[in-house]
Amino acid sequence: MSTAKLILDGQEYEFPVIVGSENEVGIDFTTLRAKTKAIAYDPGYGNTGSCRSAITYIDGEAGILRYRGYPIEQIAALASFTEICYLLIYGELPHHDQLREFERKITYHTLLHEDMKKIFDAYPATAHPMAILAAMVMSLASFYEESDDPETTDLNIIRLLGKIITIAAFSYKRSVGQPYVYPRNDLTYTQNFLNMMYSLPTEPYKVPDVLDRALNLLLILHADHEQNCSTSTVRMVGSSQAGLFASIGAGICALSGPLHGGANQEVIEMLEMIQADGGNYRKYVDMAKDKSSNFRLMGFGHRVYRNFDPRATILKKSADEVLEALGVHDPLLDIAKNLEEIALKDSYFIERKLYPNVDFYSGIIYRAMGIPTNMFTVMFAIGRLPGWIAQWREMRADSETRINRPRQIYTGATERPFVPIFQR
Ligand code: SDX
Repeated sequence: MSTAKLILDGQEYEFPVIVGSENEVGIDFTTLRAKTKAIAYDPGYGNTGSCRSAITYIDGEAGILRYRGYPIEQIAALASFTEICYLLIYGELPHHDQLREFERKITYHTLLHEDMKKIFDAYPATAHPMAILAAMVMSLASFYEESDDPETTDLNIIRLLGKIITIAAFSYKRSVGQPYVYPRNDLTYTQNFLNMMYSLPTEPYKVPDVLDRALNLLLILHADHEQNCSTSTVRMVGSSQAGLFASIGAGICALSGPLHGGANQEVIEMLEMIQADGGNYRKYVDMAKDKSSNFRLMGFGHRVYRNFDPRATILKKSADEVLEALGVHDPLLDIAKNLEEIALKDSYFIERKLYPNVDFYSGIIYRAMGIPTNMFTVMFAIGRLPGWIAQWREMRADSETRINRPRQIYTGATERPFVPIFQR
């Protein structure tokens, strides 16, 4: 299978076919318009490959997710988040000394420039943490020089990984009117974040191991997911040779949408609504099936997974373990499980291959960790940062990269003469 033939207006055209390392097949349409004057039309790009990538492999039919070839189930059970940051960004698992040095550099760069506190202080306490995160990440370009020099880029990668947890924790402290807690060099990445979130000058915070492990798992499961909406945004913005901070800031904005990373907040709000409505989950499953309701079962469905989302399977198990370890009974978890059970037996969901996705159970664990609902998507962004960085680096190094500029099919008015205002 080396070519694909297309017949248009009776004329036959031939296009090369590319095959990936997992035998995925792509028709190379880079010459389509030049040869046929026609374009491929694919709103939402569901059938369009934007690049070749060696970072993450997903098989939506089989529920497979691998980072650089390693199965997510094995990574979730055995790896640390910083180890996976290194793997995604640099392509191989670090050996012990490499990982220690990588973590040391990240820890060293968790501190924010003191002037950034003035920006935090300008926000109202009600500001959404995602709006603050996007703005503060973009603001890093005002404090740190960017260039294509590999050393500068590597330093800015470390700065981003280090500072995102401090920006997130500071936005939380701002929202609750508590003093900012500075990062500490004696804590791990996940411990540092939790300490900055929950420590108080009046009462130091001891990070519970169960929360540290749960956060490590959550960040790993969100670390990359091939060409999703926010990652494609990072690549799109980066393709114009915009800087790393600007590209990542754009990805944060894309992630904030309720159909994408904002879904984890929407899931909890949906479960709380069902709980307030007497736990009548069947009513909401029926609403989700009724198009006129404009209601969707948030946390259900996925563009790629037409079977289970392996991340949801892992998170469902982790939710049980974390709540049991904390001695917490969260009625929202029972509602979530009942929703899943009903939906997976309902022909509407079965026919459309709608299964719980990564967002369906993650919020239950964030809640048990004391993370406020409006911070859930910020947690998603912290996890996804290494994936965005890895994809941005790969795009910049790819000889096939051109500024992203899709075409369109114009459906507007054909030519007509302009009528000056005094004649209208
Ligand atoms: C993430 O791409 C990624 O990899 C994303 C992500 C990542 O790690 O980066 O995995 C993270 O974004 C997960 C998805 C989080 N979003 C939600 O949970 C929001 C609820 N889900 C949907 O809105 C929807 O399922 C999407 C957005 C996830 C996928 O949308 P698609 O692929 O465009 O599917 P669609 O909207 O065309 O739906 C197909 C059909 C439609 O019905 P019909 O018109 O065929 O009759 O399924 C229905 C939809 O109405 N449908 C749902 C539904 N999701 C789809 N019906 C009820 N509830 C839902 N949740």
